Amino acid sequence: MAKRIGILLSGRGSNFEALADAVASGRIPNAEIAVVISNREGAPGIEKARARGIEALVIPSKGKEREAYDREVVAALRERGVELVCLAGFMRLLSPYFVQEYRNRILNIHPSLLPAFPGLEAQRQALEYGVKYSGCTVHFVDEQLDAGPIICQAVVEVRDDDTPETLAARILREEHRIYAEAVRIVLEGRYRIEGRRVFVTRED
Ligand code: GAR
Repeated sequence: MAKRIGILLSGRGSNFEALADAVASGRIPNAEIAVVISNREGAPGIEKARARGIEALVIPSKGKEREAYDREVVAALRERGVELVCLAGFMRLLSPYFVQEYRNRILNIHPSLLPAFPGLEAQRQALEYGVKYSGCTVHFVDEQLDAGPIICQAVVEVRDDDTPETLAARILREEHRIYAEAVRIVLEGRYRIEGRRVFVTRED
């Protein structure tokens, strides 16, 4: 049976689209995207999901207490039989309740080489710090922001003439590639976690 993926997003949704393309082309085999949920009204990712015929819900987070909100989201995911949750530009910290409900079954993508530059505007942070290389990270989600055991990373060189926008665009291409790779690894169970380390076993 196809494994059911739930996507949470707050904005543009390009990582969602990359995952949807990878599912459609078989680069992520035996999987389907069961639902896309946004905490923001008008997130472009919602329209993109609907255009692909994927169920998309807006569950507004504004004014709601963190755990109460997460209970609504977890209920929606459970109703749809979601086994793996992918955060794709979901700009909220998850409550311990959510993390426990889907322990080691929530992935996040972040546009830096974690643990450097967690939080907002990671690409701008990297430029301002003056690093020569940045990149992106896919990791399991735990109770901390942009933390949790790392599954995949990709390195992107910082150029002298980069702006946050040009650097973000080159990082984004790598995000789309490694997110699909990480989802495949996790769905196929080709990994084990020891402490903070994730060991990936090769494909046969
Ligand atoms: C991506 O660059 C993603 O890595 C970042 O938000 C962007 C969403 O773009 N996520 C974070 O910064 C999480 N801390 P998208 O909506 O086009 O996928």
